[in-house]
Amino acid sequence: MTTRPTAVTGASGHVGGAVVRGLVDAGHTDVLALVREPSRFVDPHQPAAVRRADYTSREEMAAALTGVGTLVFISSDGEAASALVHHINVLDAAVRAEVEHVVYLSILDLEPDSPFCFAPVHRETERMLRDRHLPHTVVRASVYGEFFTQWVVEAASSGSLALPMGDGRVSLVSRGDVARCLVECAIRRPGAVVKATGGHSFDLAELADITARFSPHLVKATNIEPTEFSSLLLRRGVAPWWVYAFTSMFESVREQRFEAVTGDVATLTGLAPVGFSTLAETAIQTSRH
Ligand SMILES: NC(=O)c1ccc[n+]([C@@H]2O[C@H](COP(=O)([O-])OP(=O)(O)OC[C@H]3O[C@@H](n4cnc5c(N)ncnc54)[C@H](OP(=O)(O)O)[C@@H]3O)[C@@H](O)[C@H]2O)c1
Repeated sequence: MTTRPTAVTGASGHVGGAVVRGLVDAGHTDVLALVREPSRFVDPHQPAAVRRADYTSREEMAAALTGVGTLVFISSDGEAASALVHHINVLDAAVRAEVEHVVYLSILDLEPDSPFCFAPVHRETERMLRDRHLPHTVVRASVYGEFFTQWVVEAASSGSLALPMGDGRVSLVSRGDVARCLVECAIRRPGAVVKATGGHSFDLAELADITARFSPHLVKATNIEPTEFSSLLLRRGVAPWWVYAFTSMFESVREQRFEAVTGDVATLTGLAPVGFSTLAETAIQTSRH
């Protein structure tokens, strides 16, 4: 039996790129990196073939998926409505190309009553995978630790970590651990739901304490009002969609929807998840150079 190649969408991004590298490092030579613009995708260390595949084009995606056995589908980004259209395109293309198994990067909070703006996108995509009878595995990631490091770096120099977290806790997971889970799922095709979380969920005070370890200052944790947080982001020039995305994510955190800690990363990859303090230390040290 010949094995069909494994394709990875979003291969020019952080998680998709790490999945391509992980598959190649695991000895898979038949890896296809799917990218929006091949001329911008330059990585001489990756002996993977490159195919053009824009999420906006169902035709292009179907052509890119021709002959593919396993598809690692990295969720799209941007405004939720467009992301959902992208996802419909990818899954329709996967059906047309008769992809054998889809490994989909989803999100931990996808409940129908969630305030998080991307919850419906992931919930609908998981529903479409079932309805289209595509054999699949879902990796539901918690919030990326790297995403939080932007605020930690700032707090390390200002001495104040001000976020609208309330009493919420968040099980921050590294992108690398999420990528390792996706690689294992692409290889083993478990057909399960994997919940990729860090090993601990942090509240605001704990995040401030971690920041203080790598800062010359004491770092104060300040729970700010969502409206104050939104105003701050808007004053800094953050686009309205992303202001909404950030504030809706923090609302979800306050409702403890990103609190869960599972052992799935260690079970699947054989390695304990990277701790958030490691990510924070690296980000703070890097910001000083
Ligand atoms: N769990 C969390 O905390 C969290 C946080 C943020 C995002 N996410 C989700 O996780 C995904 C992966 O995260 P990441 O850090 O790897 O993101 P990233 O580095 O920004 O990578 C996103 C990838 O999506 C590609 N892409 C965007 N629009 C596209 C289009 N129209 N057609 C084809 N490719 C397109 C980008 O390609 P280009 O290089 O051409 O732009 C890039 O390769 C995100 O896309 C998002 O769905 C999760």
